[in-house]
Amino acid sequence: MQRVENEIARLINECDYEEVTELFNKLSGGKRLRAKLILKIAENHKDAPLLAAIVELIHAASLLHDDVIDEAMTRRGVASVNATEGSKVSVMLGDILYSKAFTELVAFDREVAKTIASSVTALSKGEMMDVKMAEFFNTDETLYLDMLYLKTATLIEAAAKAAALLAGKDAEAHALYGRNLGLSFQIIDDILDITSNEQKLGKPAMNDYVEGKCTLPYIYLYEALGEEDRKRLVASHAKKISKEESGWIEKKMQESQTVEKSFLLAQKLSKEAQKAMSEDPALVLILDTMIQRSY
Ligand code: IPE
Ligand code: IPE
Ligand code: MG
Ligand code: MG
Ligand code: MG
Repeated sequence: MQRVENEIARLINECDYEEVTELFNKLSGGKRLRAKLILKIAENHKDAPLLAAIVELIHAASLLHDDVIDEAMTRRGVASVNATEGSKVSVMLGDILYSKAFTELVAFDREVAKTIASSVTALSKGEMMDVKMAEFFNTDETLYLDMLYLKTATLIEAAAKAAALLAGKDAEAHALYGRNLGLSFQIIDDILDITSNEQKLGKPAMNDYVEGKCTLPYIYLYEALGEEDRKRLVASHAKKISKEESGWIEKKMQESQTVEKSFLLAQKLSKEAQKAMSEDPALVLILDTMIQRSY
């Protein structure tokens, strides 16, 4: 991983703007899931650390923009860039990271470059869908999963596939692994928003519903409730709610086991990913760690 960190630092320095280096250094690195995946799949390839660095720059850019879109004040345990420097700086820093990543991608094989670059279009479409879907109480599970695929799974899928292409491994099998890992990963992220706390997450908890996001545990809750309770649930959608209301939602979720039901789906997807990679213990381990994570 040190080689990835070195590559990231080199790319940031090449942007040749002190302000950018300073701002970037204030971001903590995060879990580096996507980089770890690439290093594991294309272990001995000389360009794997660079590809991993590119993908982490893209991911960081997407978070800088996401925190503006979501008006999120915390990221990776510290104040977000939009909170301390304002939204304009966060958007511009995101643009610099995206474009630097694309510039570096040009040096790769066409198929590798296209795989990564096109996933950024998908990710951005997913973010648009996410915002649009927060305007109403979405009860459609399939629509929700389609959005998750675009928003989160495509970049992870692309990272796994591109690394496989680089290493001369089975690209489609690795893409399938990445897709299911990515879907499962975002479902866990949505669950943690409900079950974890800000200290552990490094971002506010119980915030998705306030933002209008009907994640899986909310969709399943709606399905489980009677008519009166459904009205009560929908009435607290997309706004700051009292402790009493959030307590009521939590109690109803416990009664109808909607977090557990969401976790089962994450587990099922994770098992499918495992099946695609059963002969590779390192990739199976990444999945196990991901599904058991608490932040
Ligand atoms: C956060 O991704 C955004 C989602 C897709 C849920 P990560 O949870 O991988 O973020 P870092 O990089 O570890 O902070
Ligand atoms: C994932 O969406 C962000 C991206 C894929 C860019 P979220 O809005 O759920 O991510 P967090 O919870 O802020 O990390
Ligand atoms: Mg967000
Ligand atoms: Mg978001
Ligand atoms: Mg989230």
